Amino acid sequence: ATDLERAIDAFARGDPVCVHDAADREGETDLIYPAEAVTPSAVSHLRNDAGGLVCVAVPDTVAEAFDLPFYAEAVSHPATDDHDLGYDDRSSFSLTVNHRETYTGITDDDRSLTIRELADAAATPTATDFADHFRVPGHVHLLRGAPEGLAQREGHTELGLALADAAETDPAVVVCEMLDDETGAATTPQDARAYAARHDLVYLEGRDIVEGLC
Ligand code: 5RP
Ligand code: ZN
Ligand code: CA
Ligand code: ZN
Repeated sequence: ATDLERAIDAFARGDPVCVHDAADREGETDLIYPAEAVTPSAVSHLRNDAGGLVCVAVPDTVAEAFDLPFYAEAVSHPATDDHDLGYDDRSSFSLTVNHRETYTGITDDDRSLTIRELADAAATPTATDFADHFRVPGHVHLLRGAPEGLAQREGHTELGLALADAAETDPAVVVCEMLDDETGAATTPQDARAYAARHDLVYLEGRDIVEGLC
């Protein structure tokens, strides 16, 4: 099987995949799980082994059904006026959320509940009253996919959602950047590959997904 086929199988089983976007983009490797498979121990892996920001990406259509805007469009502040990102046209950040049954929202139990409930809600977006189930602000960052997906934007947001689509999981994925504990910089592709090999995970380059699924 190709690495992409192995990644899709892993995702369908609920296992995470390591995805490096591109050297000329962020140059970061995210640990990505299908949101429906996230347990408290998966959240622990994300914060200890990856260490970046724990975010849940949903497709544009789901975000639209839940009335979840891009953060920069929802908040009026001078600092949101100039989108001078070095690596892309715009950020995919939407709002932050907690499931209403969480307490503080940050514990592994609380974040895994929020994440799994987001997957559940994303599976039937028009049947879900988002505000009945979630409160804003919270401790899980939502990311909104580009309307045309990978044809429009090649971020971890769209790369992860394309894997979920191919694996036929619920349309929601958790992404978290892998950071090097020694340097604080992004884990290098070489180290991310070695991490994946040690943990029996698939490592993919963004272009493997773009070329294989577009
Ligand atoms: C949120 C981020 C990450 O880079 C995440 O991978 C989503 O962003 P993108 O789709 O731009 O790669 O900034 O922690
Ligand atoms: Zn980023
Ligand atoms: Ca660590
Ligand atoms: Zn990213």
